[in-house]
Amino acid sequence: MPDLNLKLFIKITFMVFVVGSDSFAKELAGELGVEFAGVEKRVFPDGEVCPRIIGNIDGHAIIADRMKLPMSPNRYLVELLLTIKNLRQMGVETIDVVMPYFVYSRQDKIFRSGEPFSARYVLELIKSAGARNFFTVSSHTQRDNHMFNLGGIDVYNINGFDAVARYISGLDLKDPVVAGSDLSVKGSIRQMARSIDAGCIAFSKERDLRTGEIKLKWSFDISGRDIIIADDIVSSGHTMVSSIEIAKDSGAAKVYCFAIHAVSAEGIDLVSSKADKFVSTDTIDNPTAEISVIKDVAEKIKAVSGI
Ligand code: R5P
Repeated sequence: MPDLNLKLFIKITFMVFVVGSDSFAKELAGELGVEFAGVEKRVFPDGEVCPRIIGNIDGHAIIADRMKLPMSPNRYLVELLLTIKNLRQMGVETIDVVMPYFVYSRQDKIFRSGEPFSARYVLELIKSAGARNFFTVSSHTQRDNHMFNLGGIDVYNINGFDAVARYISGLDLKDPVVAGSDLSVKGSIRQMARSIDAGCIAFSKERDLRTGEIKLKWSFDISGRDIIIADDIVSSGHTMVSSIEIAKDSGAAKVYCFAIHAVSAEGIDLVSSKADKFVSTDTIDNPTAEISVIKDVAEKIKAVSGI
């Protein structure tokens, strides 16, 4: 956390820009009360990218690009690294990165020998390109609300379930209970259940690291109650669909599903076809992104940078 003098220095001396290519960055700029600068995304026929920053920027830049479906993490990452370098070359003094969905964070340790520690290596690249702080949303629920220093850069993990809780509070639910996996309900999902005054139950989940096959176990009587199933990621949709099936077999009235990051159209379609309602946040531009995390991201940036 910067001291008061640094906060005042940023406030008085620097112009601040949010740099990005879609409504997420524009709305974040509005929420922070700073300038917006667009990025033009050019792709050559061979697939090489050439992001161009529109206009003159100096002072402090917050790059806040997000992905849209279909996801293209490799292209997104290279565009981000080139944009950071580009801003440095333009004379921008300090650069923060908002990566609403932290690409490569799945591999947040070496699971099997010979695999990369991808999350760490990505952060190292971002830092060495010239970024100062890294903001992301609900990257692995077990580390919610913790600032960690993976890759030597300050990482702020904003809890996306706060925005989900605000959304759920506006729904008319019948004696709701929140369900999640063993790991996830230990942290942010239990906290979300508390904040909406709902019960919370956990199921155990096992994934075969070789085949990716998932097994869920859960035995509760939830007859006649509305069930909220929340997860950080919906990818293939299989985890959520297994939970929906267990909830329905256990007597649930309606099943409402929420994901912070909806990362594939196939997963979205599958879950939407089985749940009574499926909604995600806007960390990835997708048709179910009804919940905005922009306010939460802006609050964290203000607290850290003093903007
Ligand atoms: C795993 O740790 C995550 O929390 C999600 O449960 C997982 O990524 C969902 O994947 P899928 O939709 O492919 O089952």
